[in-house]
Amino acid sequence: MFIKLINTLQNNIFLTLFVGHSLVKLHEVDSTNTYLKKLLSNSKPLIEGTVIMADYQTSGRGQKNNVWESEKGANLTFSVLLKPSFLNVNNQFQLNKSVSLGVSDVLIEILGESSKIKWPNDIYFENKKIGGILIENTIKGNFLKESVVGIGLNINQKEFGLNADRATSLSKILHQDYDLDKLLSQLCTRIESRYLQLKADKHQLLDKDYLDRLFRINESYLYEIDNQNFEGIIKGVTPTGRLSIELSGGKQVDLDLKEVKFIFD
Ligand code: BTN
Repeated sequence: MFIKLINTLQNNIFLTLFVGHSLVKLHEVDSTNTYLKKLLSNSKPLIEGTVIMADYQTSGRGQKNNVWESEKGANLTFSVLLKPSFLNVNNQFQLNKSVSLGVSDVLIEILGESSKIKWPNDIYFENKKIGGILIENTIKGNFLKESVVGIGLNINQKEFGLNADRATSLSKILHQDYDLDKLLSQLCTRIESRYLQLKADKHQLLDKDYLDRLFRINESYLYEIDNQNFEGIIKGVTPTGRLSIELSGGKQVDLDLKEVKFIFD
């Protein structure tokens, strides 16, 4: 395996306090999340903000045990190590909000307000998915210890497989290619500032921004719940990260990721 370790401080690419200061670029790896978790289980401590990025993942992982496929060299697939030891496990969804907002901050700059966060932390443009986030936490007592924040964003990929008909990329939307290193640096900057807001207990701000950008909020759509389709309106997200939907009869349900599917026509 070829590993290129980049001294980002010397190259002065990252205008951050800590995210991306240690950056490992891999040509190929099973999954950047798995790789970072293995590094963590080795004895040598890793500094917070360490980023592992790969040109290609052979076993990229998504939420709900899905695979994350991404064309070699075309997109961003990377993982960031955070150490949110200040965050109570009951509040861990706030970390998902912060990271989604950081990613969304960059995409809104490029795509405008039509770029949304689809609950819990997918990045959407209109009805298509540009990216996803997989956060894997370790816990110590009642608090988080380490978080491996895996981010996959479709940037320059033009074609997607038949079973990825809801996938799109920046380049498909805007008909131009993007510099992956520059985008990575912007993402690190924005993720770090949202993470610092979380650390500074700016929960109201994070909650407000997350809801403002939530895909399909306050609009009526169909959802599949218990193998049946229901019309409902997303009203918000509970503190533990469940999606609150008001069903057409008026009943409110709070659902987790396995319990609800968005219906697209
Ligand atoms: C999802 O939408 O299901 C989450 C996708 C997360 C994919 C990223 S790519 C980098 C990191 N490594 C992985 O194996 N998964 C995440």
